[in-house]
Formats: sequence, C-alpha cells, structure tokens
Amino acid sequence: MEEPKKSKRSVRQRADQIKPFRCKNLIAVIEDPNSVFNTGSVIRNVNALGVEKVYVVDPRRALADNWEELRERAKLSKASVSAVKWTFVKRFDSTEECLAHLEKNGFVSVVTSPHVKGKENAFLHEVDFTKHAKLAVWFGTESKGISELAVDRSEMCVSVPMFGMIESLNLGTSSGIVLYEVTKQRREYQSKYSKRKKRGERSTPLPVVIQHGEDSDVD
Ligand SMILES: C[S@@+](CC[C@H](N)C(=O)[O-])C[C@H]1O[C@@H](n2cnc3c(N)ncnc32)[C@H](O)[C@@H]1O
Repeated sequence: MEEPKKSKRSVRQRADQIKPFRCKNLIAVIEDPNSVFNTGSVIRNVNALGVEKVYVVDPRRALADNWEELRERAKLSKASVSAVKWTFVKRFDSTEECLAHLEKNGFVSVVTSPHVKGKENAFLHEVDFTKHAKLAVWFGTESKGISELAVDRSEMCVSVPMFGMIESLNLGTSSGIVLYEVTKQRREYQSKYSKRKKRGERSTPLPVVIQHGEDSDVD
C-alpha cells in the first residue's frame, strides 16, 4: 500500500523539532565508496543520528557536483530511503582535496578501521569525541579500507572491537555504530555547554533525546 503524503506542516514541524538535536560541526566522510547502496546507507545513518553533513570522496564521479541534482538521483535517493533529500552532501574529486577543505576550515579528522593504523589507535568506547569542536570522521572504501593519506593526516584511528571470524564490518553497519557513539557524546556535550572547552555551562541541560510520542509522522 502506498504511504500517505506528509503534509508540508508536519514536515516543517519535524524539521524544527530535530534541529536542536543535530550535532554541530560534525562531518562524516566516506572515502571512495564502490556502491551507491553503501553511500545511501551512510547518508541514512547520518540523517537518522543527527550528524551535520556528509562528504564523499568520489574520484569515479558517481555523484553529481551540485547538491540539488545529487539529491534527485533516483538510485541514491532510494538507497538512502530519501534521507539524501534532508542531508547536506558534498563531493570531492580526491582525498587530498577533501582533507585540504577540512583543514582550511579547522576540522580535525579521525579515521576508522578494524585494523591498527597510524600513530594513535583506540577502541570506539575509549575515545572522547567532544575534544575537538570541529570533527570529521572518516570511513574507508569497501575493499581496501581507509587510505594511507587519510591516516597520515588524522589524529587517530578508531576501531569497533571485533569478536568474530571475519575481519571487518560493512560500511553501513560500521558507520551506524561509530556515529551512534560520536553523536551520543556530542549531544550530551551540547546539552550541557553552549561553547567550546566546557565553557557556557547551561543552568538546565537541554534534552538529549526526543521522547517517544513526541516524534511526528515523518519517516
Ligand atoms: C568493509 S570495511 C573495509 C575492510 C578492509 N578490508 C580494511 O582492511 O579496512 C569498510 C570500512 O568500514 C569501516 N569499518 C569496518 N569495520 C570496522 C571496525 N571494526 N572498526 C572501525 N571501522 C570499521 C572502516 O572505515 C572501513 O574502511
């Protein structure tokens, strides 16, 4: 059965409701994804978890340059269950171009990998993701993982602990787990402080979840 169309009002209400929960200055970066379905899954996670933006390193030029055009692409829209409509996505031709843009704008990068990479390594639950006001979290390509260039220019490499016979999680799953932890920590921070470096403590902390029953009917 076809879903009923959402009214403009309910869309606007939901947009207003989720705005204070979005994690400011948090960017998820996907490096050279092979599959539009994986790109769509990450965009879905980004939107659902309240990450501010997605950057895609896209040397194959699978995505359109222009965001308006990009969000209209049927495959990506379907793969992200329309989350691309509500999420800021920017593409870059290369890892270098993306890193240069992030660094110019004061973002610190961390990479993710199931393996030990670079100078500093930590498990997800050990990391303080609120240390830097502007943070970019990188996810590597499906086959080869994160590039050496991204590792070299990042502060650390973060792993989700693995307990099985297989060596890694897929892109959609790993981004969901990692971004859940990162956004949880950063929402808690935003709820307590209005400024960087634990300044601007709020007299009453802001809520960190939208209570059941408070959510409107937009999927
Ligand atoms: C399918 S994995 C890539 C596997 C690849 N063989 C490798 O050596 O990294 C795709 C991406 O998901 C993320 N990922 C997968 N498993 C992870 C884990 N256990 N911890 C952190 N990130 C992980 C990383 O960003 C990785 O580059």
